[in-house]
Amino acid sequence: MTDDKIIHLDMGTHTAVAPESDARATVCLGIESSCDETSAAIVDSNHNILAHIIYSQIPEHQKYGGVVPELAARAHILAIDAVVSETLTRSGLTMADIDVIAATAGPGLIGGVLVGWMAATGIAQSTGKPLVAVNHLEGHALVPRLISASASDATQNVAVEFPYLLMLASGGHCQILLVRDVGKYELIGQTLDDSAGEAFDKVSKMLGLGYPGGPVVDARAKCGNPNAFKFPRPLCDKPGCDFSFSGIKTAARVFLDKNPGPHDDGFINDFCASFQASVVDCIINRLGHAMQDERVVMVAPKTLVVAGGVAKNSAIRHAMEQLAAAHQMTFAAPPMNLCTDNGAMIAWAGLENYARGRVVSEPVAPRSRWPLTEV
Ligand code: KG4
Ligand code: ZN
Repeated sequence: MTDDKIIHLDMGTHTAVAPESDARATVCLGIESSCDETSAAIVDSNHNILAHIIYSQIPEHQKYGGVVPELAARAHILAIDAVVSETLTRSGLTMADIDVIAATAGPGLIGGVLVGWMAATGIAQSTGKPLVAVNHLEGHALVPRLISASASDATQNVAVEFPYLLMLASGGHCQILLVRDVGKYELIGQTLDDSAGEAFDKVSKMLGLGYPGGPVVDARAKCGNPNAFKFPRPLCDKPGCDFSFSGIKTAARVFLDKNPGPHDDGFINDFCASFQASVVDCIINRLGHAMQDERVVMVAPKTLVVAGGVAKNSAIRHAMEQLAAAHQMTFAAPPMNLCTDNGAMIAWAGLENYARGRVVSEPVAPRSRWPLTEV
């Protein structure tokens, strides 16, 4: 692995809430490997990220237009040892200073999950340290409690408190959840077909903009007219909180088949802006319904949170911030660099589970499917 492929998120020391009064914080080494990022982080229970490395495989998958599971698993094998040991070195700590080991045990591409999970199991067994099997979705769901940001990515001073209403949107998932506590997630709505991230990735591919699609479509949309094309808003005229993105994707396909181009930048920008506007409208419509859902009304969460890779989207962040304000709720999101897959969110979820005694007591088989409602 060449050094230029290691991105060191030099996040320094964040204190998002008042430091705990106990003499020593709990320190967790977290490992993430469920998709195309091999990542490790050392995080403490005082909300400090002591070291964080994300080795992204994106360049290796780009020529195939998406993640190739076999290549991803091999790349994780090649990277994992260097990523973990370099994280430890950069933290200035030794293994003796680590209290708990955490790793993603699913859901995700099973080859990759196995690599990170076996590495964590090996470290835990050889050092005798406790091990936490983290659900990847729980990592996304809890990271705003490590540190949170506003729509503009300005760091907020407080970590999000339970309960909160969560829009979890990533490449593999799209769900609205009522987050009551660690391990207590109630599914309010979910996609019936594609995830929001998949829709971004597929439309980007159709336009020849490459993988991953979200960042480039987001950037193009900033220069385009959201009313230039009329995309459908699936399910928005129906009650409930479920999503459907495949109709938006099909509308894009049908239009581009009829109008094959070549397309100039103005067309591409308008197309991206119009597509993104339809995704934003669907998310806001469904969240509006979720806020009226009696399970949510009973709990009355004070915070609306977005998490997962799609949470990086500027239009979604701003629209959700406005929705929250209209309902007298606070809006929170992870800082941009903690939205997409990363080891810090796994370390933080490890700490939250460890604090509640949720550690591995018998061998755990990693799972490619693992709904958050089953943690
Ligand atoms: O959470 P994540 O890193 O991986 C999964 O757990 O799936 O999310 C990756 C997804 C990809 O589909 C990517 O296109 C999308 O997040 N994404 C975005 C943006 N940045 C990343 N989608 C919309 N706007 C963005 N700015
Ligand atoms: Zn993810």
